[in-house]
Amino acid sequence: MALRKYAGYAWNMISLAGMVLALTAACLIIGFLSYEGITGVEKPYLGLMTYFLFPGMLIFGLLLVPLGAYLVRNKKRKEAEEHIPPFPRVDFNDPHKRHMFIFFVIASVGFVLLVSVASLKGFEFTESTTFCGELCHVVMSPEHTAWANSPHAKVKCVECHVGPGAAWYVKAKLSGMRQLYAVAFHTYPETIETPIDNLRPARDTCEHCHWPEKFYAGRQKVFYHYAPNEQNSPREINMLINIGGTPKSAHSKGIHWHIGQKVTYIATDKKRMNIPYIRVEGRDGKITEFMDTEKPLTKAEIEKSKQREMDCTDCHNRPTHIYRAPGVEMDENFVSGHIDQSLPYMKKVAVEVLTRPYKTTEEAKATIAKEIPAYYQKNYPQVAQAKAKEIAKAVTEVQDIYGRNFFPQMKVSWNTYPNNIGHFYTPGCFRCHDGKHKNAEGRIISKDCNLCHTVLSQKQENIPEGTKPNGFVHPVDIGDEIMKTNCSDCHSAGGQDVPGGEAHKK
Ligand code: HEC
Ligand code: HEC
Ligand code: HEC
Ligand code: HEC
Ligand code: HEC
Ligand code: HEC
Repeated sequence: MALRKYAGYAWNMISLAGMVLALTAACLIIGFLSYEGITGVEKPYLGLMTYFLFPGMLIFGLLLVPLGAYLVRNKKRKEAEEHIPPFPRVDFNDPHKRHMFIFFVIASVGFVLLVSVASLKGFEFTESTTFCGELCHVVMSPEHTAWANSPHAKVKCVECHVGPGAAWYVKAKLSGMRQLYAVAFHTYPETIETPIDNLRPARDTCEHCHWPEKFYAGRQKVFYHYAPNEQNSPREINMLINIGGTPKSAHSKGIHWHIGQKVTYIATDKKRMNIPYIRVEGRDGKITEFMDTEKPLTKAEIEKSKQREMDCTDCHNRPTHIYRAPGVEMDENFVSGHIDQSLPYMKKVAVEVLTRPYKTTEEAKATIAKEIPAYYQKNYPQVAQAKAKEIAKAVTEVQDIYGRNFFPQMKVSWNTYPNNIGHFYTPGCFRCHDGKHKNAEGRIISKDCNLCHTVLSQKQENIPEGTKPNGFVHPVDIGDEIMKTNCSDCHSAGGQDVPGGEAHKK
C-alpha cells in the first residue's frame, strides 16, 4: 500500500490519531475563519473555539505524529528486527525521502501560516468588545449596555481598561484568567465593586485621545426637565459650564484646574465618598491643606492614610458606563419626542413604575405593559381611547428605559454606582466643594453657584415668562436649604415628589 509506505514509522495508532486531529482542526479553523470573513459576524463562543481551542488541537495533533513515529522506531531499534541507526538518514538522492522532505516543508509553511493567522486573530479578538462585553454577557451586561449608549460607544473596552504596551496586556490577560475562572465558578461578587483599584492611570488611557493642553473656556449645556405634574410642564436650565484648562493651556482657571496641580486627598471609605482631607501642591511648590471642619482628621491619621492623586476618573468616573435616573430618561424621551408629552402625568406614572423593586427584567417589562395603560383606562378613559397608539409607544420606550438602567441579575441599577461629575443625585463635586472644607487661613473650597457654571437663562413654572433670573431658581422654594444642604441629600433620599428619590427609600 503506497500510503503506508509513505507514512513509514508514522503508520501507527498514535500518529494516525494525531493526523486526524490536526486535519480536523485545520479544516475547522479554515471553515470558521472563512465563515467569519464572509458573513462579518463575530460570535464570542465561536471565536473562543476558532482562535484558541482548534489551534491548540492542531498543535497537539501535529505533536502526536512524530511522537508515535519515534516510539515505533525506537521499539524496532531495540528489538533489532533490522539495523536502524540512532538518527534518521537524510538522503535527497532517494526519491521517497526527497518527496517526504518537500511535503514536510510545504506542510510546515502551511501550518505556521494557519497558526499565525489564528493567533493574530486571537489577539485581535481578546482586544474586541465582543470578547470583553459579550463573552461573559450576564456579568458584563450593565457595562456593555451603558457603554453602547454612551459618547464612547466607538472606543474599545481595552482602550480604557488596558491601554497601549505589552506589560499591561499581559497584566490584563492574567487578571482575565482569574475573571474567567470567577465567572465559571461563580466566585465573583454579584455586583462588581467600584472604584476599580488597579485601573490604569488616566494619563495612559484617557490622555491618549483627550488633550488636556487643549481644553477651552466654556461649554454651553441645556438641562431639560419636565415637572411631575398633569401637564408634564417643561423646564429648561441653560448653562455655561466653566470647563477651563490646565496651566499649559490658554485658560488655566476653571474646572480642569485640578489636573494642572498636584491635588491629593484622603478618602475614609472604599467608594471615595467621604473626603475629610485635601492637599494641593501648586506649580510654585506651595502646599495648601484643606480639612473637613465637621469631621477633621488628626495629624496621626493623616500620616498613616494613603493619599490618592486626583486624575480624570475622580470626576469622570462614568465616562461611558453611564446609568441614568428614570426621571432624566423620561426628560430625554419627552425632548426627543419619543414619548408624547401631552399624556397627563406621564412622567410621574412612568418614574413610579420604573423605581419599584423587580426580581427580573421580564417581570418589570410585564408590569410596565400592564400598569401604564391601566392608569389611563382608570383615570383618563378618553385619553386612553384617543391616544391608544401614543400610550403603546410610551410603554415600549419605558420598557427600554428599564432595560438600559436596571440589571436585576447583577443587582445593578442606575443608582448603584455614584456619578461624580455634578452634584445632583450624588455628592460629586460637593464631596470637597461643600463649603465645609477649610485651610489654616480659613479659606474654604468654594460652593459658590457661579464658580463652575453660570445660568444663562431658565424656563420654569415659577419664573414669569420674559424675566431673566439672577442665578438658579429652584422649582419649589426651599429657602436657604439650597446652600446649606447638599442637593443629593434631598434628590437621592427624598420623598415621593423628588424625581429619582423614591428608589432610595427601599
Ligand atoms: C472611555 C473609557 C472606557 C471604556 C471604553 C470602557 N470602560 Fe469600563 N470603566 C471605565 C472607568 C473609568 C471605570 C471605573 C469606574 C470607577 O472606578 O468607578 C470603568 C469600570 C468598569 C467596570 C466596573 C463596574 C462599573 O460599572 O464601574 C466594568 C465591569 C467595566 N468597566 C467593563 C467594561 C467593558 C466590558 C467595556 C467594553 C464594552 C468597557 N468597560 C469600556 C472606563 C471605560
Ligand atoms: C480611543 C480614544 C478615547 C479614549 C481612550 C477616551 N476617550 Fe473620551 N472621547 C473620545 C471621543 C472620540 C469623544 C467624543 C464623542 C462625541 O463627541 O460624541 C469623547 C468624549 C469624551 C467626553 C465628553 C462626553 C460628552 O458628554 O460629550 C468626556 C468627558 C470624555 N470623553 C472623557 C474621557 C475619559 C475620562 C477617558 C478615560 C477614562 C476617555 N474619555 C477616554 C475618545 C476617547
Ligand atoms: C475636577 C473634576 C474633573 C477632572 C479632574 C477632570 N474633568 Fe473633565 N470635565 C469636568 C466637568 C465638570 C466637565 C463638564 C461636564 C459637563 O458639561 O457635563 C468636564 C468636561 C470634559 C470634557 C468635555 C469637554 C467639552 O467641551 O465637552 C472632556 C473631553 C474632559 N472633561 C476630559 C477630561 C480628561 C481627559 C481629564 C483628565 C486629564 C479630565 N477631564 C479631568 C470635570 C473634571
Ligand atoms: C478631592 C477634592 C475636590 C473635588 C472632588 C473637586 N474639587 Fe474643585 N477644587 C478643589 C480644591 C482643593 C480647589 C482649590 C480651592 C482653593 O484653592 O481655594 C478646587 C478648585 C476648583 C475650582 C476653581 C479653580 C480656579 O482657581 O479657577 C473649580 C472651578 C472647581 N474646583 C470645580 C470642580 C468641579 C466641577 C468638581 C466636580 C466635577 C470639583 N471641582 C471636584 C478640590 C476638589
Ligand atoms: C464645584 C463646582 C460646582 C459648584 C460650586 C456648583 N455646581 Fe452646579 N453643577 C456643576 C457641574 C459640573 C454640573 C454639570 C453636571 C452635568 O454635566 O451633568 C452642575 C449642574 C448643575 C445644575 C443642573 C442639574 C441638572 O441635572 O439639571 C444645576 C441646577 C446646578 N448645577 C445648580 C447649582 C447651584 C444652585 C449651586 C450653588 C449652590 C451649584 N450648582 C454649585 C458644578 C458645580
Ligand atoms: C430640601 C430639599 C431639596 C434640596 C436641598 C434641593 N432640592 Fe431640588 N427639588 C426638591 C423637590 C421637593 C423638588 C421637586 C419639585 C418638582 O419637581 O416640582 C426638586 C426639584 C428640583 C429640580 C427639577 C427636577 C425636575 O425633574 O424637574 C431641579 C433641577 C432641582 N431640584 C435642582 C436642585 C439643585 C441643583 C439643588 C442643590 C443646589 C437642589 N435642587 C437642592 C427638593 C430639594
